[in-house]
Amino acid sequence: MVMGWASSEWLVQHQTLWILDFGSQYTQLIARRVRELGVYCEIRPCTDAAPDSFPENLVGLVLSGGPASVLGDDAPDFDMRWLDCDVPILGVCYGMQLLAKHHGGEVVRGVSREYGLAHVFLEPDPGPLFQDFTTDDHRIVWMSHGDHVEQAPPGFQVCARSASGIVAAMQAKDAPVYGLQFHPEVTHSRHGKALVARFVVDICGARGDWTPGVFVEEHIAQLREQLGDDHVICGLSGGVDSSVVAAMLHQAIGENLTCIFVDNGLLREGEAEQVRAEFQDFNLIVSDASDLFLDALLGVTEPEKKRKIIGELFIRVFEQEARNLPAVKWLAQGTLYPDVIESVSVRGPSATIKSHHNVGGLPDDMQFKLIEPLRELFKDEARAAGEALGLSAQRVWRQPFPGPGFAVRCLGEVTRERLVHLRKADAIVREEIKNAGLEREIWQSFCVLLPVRSVGVMGDERTYEEACAIRAVYSHDGMTADVVPLPWPLLQRMSSRIINEVRGINRVAYDISSKPPGTIEWE
Ligand code: XMP
Repeated sequence: MVMGWASSEWLVQHQTLWILDFGSQYTQLIARRVRELGVYCEIRPCTDAAPDSFPENLVGLVLSGGPASVLGDDAPDFDMRWLDCDVPILGVCYGMQLLAKHHGGEVVRGVSREYGLAHVFLEPDPGPLFQDFTTDDHRIVWMSHGDHVEQAPPGFQVCARSASGIVAAMQAKDAPVYGLQFHPEVTHSRHGKALVARFVVDICGARGDWTPGVFVEEHIAQLREQLGDDHVICGLSGGVDSSVVAAMLHQAIGENLTCIFVDNGLLREGEAEQVRAEFQDFNLIVSDASDLFLDALLGVTEPEKKRKIIGELFIRVFEQEARNLPAVKWLAQGTLYPDVIESVSVRGPSATIKSHHNVGGLPDDMQFKLIEPLRELFKDEARAAGEALGLSAQRVWRQPFPGPGFAVRCLGEVTRERLVHLRKADAIVREEIKNAGLEREIWQSFCVLLPVRSVGVMGDERTYEEACAIRAVYSHDGMTADVVPLPWPLLQRMSSRIINEVRGINRVAYDISSKPPGTIEWE
């Protein structure tokens, strides 16, 4: 198996908060809220054994929500020694029910679920978490649970109740242990951010010593020390993540870095030329491997299979190119934190939705050790790191493009002919979005080619061609997304241009699904 970069070593100096993931879809949002406060945090599976001694830089522990019931057989295994840690603990939803059960309170199965916006009612002394929570607005929270705490444990006080009288928040009387039945991490909880800040800053005493500038500076020094005279190749896609990694490594080891841009035949129009122009000062190899990828994908329609094939071929191309270089020991990738988390499936915690190619698809016999300096960052943090490194605004604010490229936007079989159609349609969407000045505010805007033919008429002729869907979403980090209500004239222009200019597509639809329940990419 590949060796990971010992990413946490340098973190010893930084205060850290751990979030134990019991499988909630919102766990990553807790991490985001904590990071927004400049406090480093890590998500760990709830099934991890508690350490024998807790690190000195640990300032707090959060127990996330989760889909299981603390009363059921499906409750994930949990090492109760975690609760002996000497730092403040916050249990959210499932986490609170776990605390209640462990300390001798009463948790009952809900006859009716509380889901959605709710009002909570504070007790006369609601404790430090709710200090200054005085207005009606402060009481609006997001609930999503079945079970609930009927009776707070001995030694705990109730801080708030929901309209139906159930315990919405509780705290231990003589220890910094807190529980919230609702989700402060979700933006619908109007003052949820303030609650998280109260816990992290005031109760855990975190100083907020973690910023993208600090991250970049420390990691460059760390990379320089760790890599010494080793040669490194960096898979450069031109996207912000791999560009940030390349720029960090360039500063750390200069000429010992070779960037490899793989033209896999699944790229957008003009991509290879742009990368060549922008990274001309770096050691850059542009490897044309399109036939290799496209031949391997012939006949493959299953999305996960496409990803695995592509992930493996990337590595084979890197290995091939590396043979012409001085002994290469390391492969650097722009893997981000959500890729890591979404690709790790542990019992109970957040299940694998898609294996991202640069994490899930690596062959076991890979010859390189892996460096992934951005493994701890969310996308917007990677962008901030890019700015701290002085990358151009165009590079830093480029919309994300998935590693498997058009393979996951060409639904069904990926043929050369279909890719030509998709590439043209995609170029039209990009051009129109850019001309409308919307490129930066939109997280992603693109086209998906559907393996569905429908009848149309052009001039006097019947057409029987495929359809494409336009997708445009707002997002902060790709974890959740909202549909962009694109102006109608813009949609009409895109539609008529695609149908007129792209032979092979005769129908255009607009995807109006948010994430969740949809994902951003269709595959
Ligand atoms: P989904 O489709 O999971 O996408 O909602 C979330 C974000 O991740 C990008 N994405 C990928 N990026 N390799 C990547 O490098 C992949 O396999 C991959 N799949 C999705 C997607 O474009 C969106 O920004």
